[in-house]
Amino acid sequence: MKKNYNIAIVGLGQVGLYLYNELKIKKKDIETKTGKQIKIVAISAKNKNKKRKFKIDKKIFYSNPLNIFKNKIDILIECIGLSDGISKSIVEKALNKKIHVITPNKALISKHGDKLSEIAEKKRVNLEFEASVGGGIPILRTIKEGLATNKISKVYGILNGTCNYILSEMEITKDSFQNVLKKAQKLGYAEPGNPKLDLNGYDAMAKVKILSALSFNKTISSNKSLMEGIENIESKDFDIAEQLNLRIKLLGITEIIDNKLFERVHPCLVKNNTYIANVSGVMNAVILDGKPVGESVLQGEGAGPGPTSSALMSDLLSILRGNIKYPFGISSKKRKKNTNL
Ligand SMILES: NC(=O)c1ccc[n+]([C@@H]2O[C@H](COP(=O)([O-])OP(=O)(O)OC[C@H]3O[C@@H](n4cnc5c(N)ncnc54)[C@H](OP(=O)(O)O)[C@@H]3O)[C@@H](O)[C@H]2O)c1
Repeated sequence: MKKNYNIAIVGLGQVGLYLYNELKIKKKDIETKTGKQIKIVAISAKNKNKKRKFKIDKKIFYSNPLNIFKNKIDILIECIGLSDGISKSIVEKALNKKIHVITPNKALISKHGDKLSEIAEKKRVNLEFEASVGGGIPILRTIKEGLATNKISKVYGILNGTCNYILSEMEITKDSFQNVLKKAQKLGYAEPGNPKLDLNGYDAMAKVKILSALSFNKTISSNKSLMEGIENIESKDFDIAEQLNLRIKLLGITEIIDNKLFERVHPCLVKNNTYIANVSGVMNAVILDGKPVGESVLQGEGAGPGPTSSALMSDLLSILRGNIKYPFGISSKKRKKNTNL
């Protein structure tokens, strides 16, 4: 069996750079746990001379990510982001070249996951995306493996740490949305440039779609679903909620009602003595109803380089251990295509 694996990382931002450093530090640990040796043979980002938090090996740096294929690569880790453009083309190209792919890119998977998983299956390589939902929380592997024979009827939770931080902070400080957003950006919890995709519910909806596909053995839905973020929430909303012993939380929900799929993301009023009401700050939590397991809860840090890297590492170890499997748990041919389940 193959002993040495060549790895390429494209995207050396918050996530990719942290992972690059982790791979270097944990090389021996990975070998102990898998019996395999890894070597980083190519890295890519936009700007070669950008000052970065960790030192990079410029001899293996490519400004054009497509040039990494000049090397023999076994595993590609895509950390550029966005659903289309270079991320999509490089992942597609890698899978077609029989290269395993690992990505935290929920935008890519929620839009093109079906097509990409078909290529991965045809080429008999892995497409792993544990880090795309819930950051460090191992929710996808839990659904695919730990709860494999359960009939899941509902999955919901706090899927965006930025929004949960802002809502928690607005409730505690009574400060305005704009002021709390600025604070979140200063602390690195919200993107400094354009935090819109977190705040308008798009990020949580992408995660809901991935959760639905895995939980209900279906293709990614193209349903027009209710998607509302937190941008219109004001301080006075928290005063009213408090008087009613309620809290405001942005929830992502996917469930089967009368054999039909319902997906939605919107702010919810939840009783302040419930579990979900007490998940605060940047934390994420996912609650799942399954038969026969009952209700299961997973909570943890939903974003940030550390938790995201932890999930990427679990994908890597899964591949190194030879766990070649369907990206969405079952064969693409068997995944149901419509919303009637
Ligand atoms: N940040 C998180 O906490 C988190 C959590 C879960 C999932 N994710 C996902 O992880 C992915 C990466 O997120 P991030 O926060 O690490 O993003 P980021 O900090 O913005 O990093 C993006 C990286 O991509 C590089 N890049 C952009 N365009 C490129 C191009 N055309 N060719 C080559 N490289 C290019 C950038 O290069 P330069 O450095 O040279 O500019 C940068 O290194 C996204 O899919 C995101 O959704 C992130």
